[in-house]
Amino acid sequence: MTVDIAVIPAAGRGTRMRPATRVVPKALLTVVDRPTIQYAVEEAARAGAKEAILIVDLEVGHLVHQHFVNSGPLPGLEHIKIRPVVQEEPLGLGHAVLEAERMVAHRPFMCILADDIVRPGLDVLPDLIGAASDGSSVVCIQEMTPEVIVSKGAVIPTSELVDGVMSIGGAIEKPDESSIPSLYGVLGRYVFQPEIFEHLATLEPGRAGEIQLTDAMNQLGMEGKLKGVVTDQEFLDVGNPLGLLRASMVLGNHQFGEFSAIAREELGLG
Ligand code: UTP
Repeated sequence: MTVDIAVIPAAGRGTRMRPATRVVPKALLTVVDRPTIQYAVEEAARAGAKEAILIVDLEVGHLVHQHFVNSGPLPGLEHIKIRPVVQEEPLGLGHAVLEAERMVAHRPFMCILADDIVRPGLDVLPDLIGAASDGSSVVCIQEMTPEVIVSKGAVIPTSELVDGVMSIGGAIEKPDESSIPSLYGVLGRYVFQPEIFEHLATLEPGRAGEIQLTDAMNQLGMEGKLKGVVTDQEFLDVGNPLGLLRASMVLGNHQFGEFSAIAREELGLG
């Protein structure tokens, strides 16, 4: 099965990054020498994407377009077509993904949330694409502590873990500590079959009055068409100020290799 298209939702308000995001979209905040969304596009290209659909905000989406398209090709990204699609209102992550339906049509696709940057050389998408080859949709999952998982989403396993893959019945967004279904939390990497669009199109607004991607995943899970692939790689969460700072240090250290052993130890960079 070929998966050669990626959807990268980037139309959220980025309230955790205020005041930086009062004017500049969160996707264009810089880590080292490039905007966060460029890391997501580079990851998609490494996984074989020939096209990246960027879901952007109505007011500032043109800046993302300008970065990728109007300013000429970016080194290393010459072979991937970038297609911005406007989400007119921030009606939720599920709604943002649904905006890509016309472009994706009937193809399986990768979905990458640019808030999490993978560490260099530790890509997970190839494993997700492998697990999707039987027609399942696949989400990347990771063992988390109860304290962390209550602010994320926890999956409901419906099988044993075999070679890092398990069947899942769905996920619970930000579960109460008393009702955590498992300690496997959802990370923002997915491979979806196009049937996800049918589910998204019929959803009522869910949590926070938004169209939730998790609700559509739960419908796939109920039909036995959803799998989780476990990773133990640490992702760099750039959706909050401290995470952005840490990502800048980790990726700066990788890119420039200049931090001394003592500085690396103090910064917890390994
Ligand atoms: P978040 O839950 O992180 O929301 O969205 P946010 O608006 O980006 O950030 P905060 O919480 O206000 O600081 C998860 C992903 O879904 C996208 C975001 O861009 C992010 O990649 N998203 C969310 C959309 O594209 N559209 C939406 O309507 C909502």
